[in-house]
Amino acid sequence: MKEFVKWNKKYELGFKEIDSQHKKLLEFLNEAHELISKKDKKDEANDLVEELISFVRVHFGTEEKYFREFNYYGAGAHIAEHNRITLKVLRVYDEIKKGDDAYLDLLNLLKDWFDEHCTTYDKDYVKCFKEHGLK
Ligand SMILES: [Fe+2]
Ligand SMILES: [Fe+2]
Repeated sequence: MKEFVKWNKKYELGFKEIDSQHKKLLEFLNEAHELISKKDKKDEANDLVEELISFVRVHFGTEEKYFREFNYYGAGAHIAEHNRITLKVLRVYDEIKKGDDAYLDLLNLLKDWFDEHCTTYDKDYVKCFKEHGLK
C-alpha cells in the first residue's frame, strides 16, 4: 500500500528528540491511515487515533518546554498555533465520537498541517535552539 505521508529531508531540523517525534507522528498517520481503510479494523483505528492525538500533545509539550528554557522570542505565536490545531483536531474527533466517519478528514488535517507547520513555525526556532546548544 502506498504511504499516506512520507518523511522528507525538508522536515529535518537537526535535533534528535524533536526529529524523532516528528518521524513518529508521520508513522502514526501512516498506521492510522492503513487501519481506517480496513472495515473490520475500526476499533483499532479508533484506539490509534486517540493515541495519535495524545502523542501530538506530548510533542507540543516538548517544543514548548524548550521555548521556556531558551526564552524563545517566537513562543507566543507558536503556542497559539499549537492550540489552534489541537482545537481543530479535537473538534473533528468529537464528530467522530458522535458517529461521523471523519477519520480521513482528521488524518488529512494533520498531514497538511504538519507539512506547513514543520517547514515554517518549527523551522523558525532552529536558530535559537542551536544557539542554546540543543542537539
Ligand atoms: Fe513540531
Ligand atoms: Fe511546533
